[in-house]
Amino acid sequence: MIVLGIETTCDETAASLVKDGREILSSVIASSADIHEQYGGVFPELACRRHSEVILSVIQKAMVKHFSEIDLIAVAKGPGLVGALLIGMQTAKALSIAWNKPFIGINHVEAHLYAAMMGAPEPHPFPSLGIVLSGGHTFMLKIFDVGQYELIGTTVDDAIGEAFDKVGTLLGLSYPGGPKVEALARLGDPHKFSFQAGRVKKNPLHFSFSGLKTSVLYALKDKELSEKDKADVAASFQETALKDITYKATLALTSFPAKAIFLGGGVCNNQRLRALFKEKFPLLPIFWPPPELSLDNAAMIAGLGFKKFIKNPIGDPLDLEVQTRIPIA
Ligand code: KG4
Ligand code: ZN
Repeated sequence: MIVLGIETTCDETAASLVKDGREILSSVIASSADIHEQYGGVFPELACRRHSEVILSVIQKAMVKHFSEIDLIAVAKGPGLVGALLIGMQTAKALSIAWNKPFIGINHVEAHLYAAMMGAPEPHPFPSLGIVLSGGHTFMLKIFDVGQYELIGTTVDDAIGEAFDKVGTLLGLSYPGGPKVEALARLGDPHKFSFQAGRVKKNPLHFSFSGLKTSVLYALKDKELSEKDKADVAASFQETALKDITYKATLALTSFPAKAIFLGGGVCNNQRLRALFKEKFPLLPIFWPPPELSLDNAAMIAGLGFKKFIKNPIGDPLDLEVQTRIPIA
């Protein structure tokens, strides 16, 4: 079964063909990050204009070799920017009508989690701990099966990627700051500044990064900092934020017999994060998304679309609406 995936939740316009939920036949990603760079974050109207300009050519490129073989269209239905989501959704519906093929709406965040499962051997080891670390989302859940989750912790303010991006802006780095903060952190001393990540009273598994971000702001404010000082700030911030994640993952693992950890989202590209997880959980299998599936992409949408359709092969009705927020569990 060949699934066409379409992704337009934020600033990437992407299309991909995936065979039987695992084999990526094509994956095309057009990012509009270049336009947002000067604004320090995604400018929604400009992201939408770019989506509408490029979506058809991105889909055409993804389909070049297998034009007549599509069985299903899977589209990210949310969460995301409403205008951006509508462009992907309307395109998917139009293609579904034109080709007389079913279509299915997919939760973008669940697809981030599925990205790590796509490459992992089946049957997957469940129950497992799932952790999504992206620019818009940060949460932990128990995974009992694909589609069967229990949310156990989420951020009460900033997402982890958003915190990296904001700290990047404070350090004078362009959007998206995450990878640049990581590169700068490699040159710094992670123990130079004693920052703290937030603890949330009502649930020790919840995350809070806004206080940490403010501490970084005060460490930088009204000071003439050398490049070495800035690297120390980046390293201390990164170490604090990432160790908060391994600490909360440790807590989560005491609450149920997890057989593995699956991680998803753009922050999974961070090599220090990977090293910390390996160090902290040496005996547990840890599944990371491959680099091409960690940032926003449409292969993860197509892959999860296949899984969902196999379980319930009717697709979604044409009045399916986009959702700017979707609870995962
Ligand atoms: O998953 P994603 O593409 O977008 C959302 O669905 O939100 O993740 C993008 C986020 C950005 O905040 C970016 O700065 C962050 O992932 N990111 C990183 C790294 N690479 C990407 N953060 C820290 N270290 C990295 N190496
Ligand atoms: Zn994403």
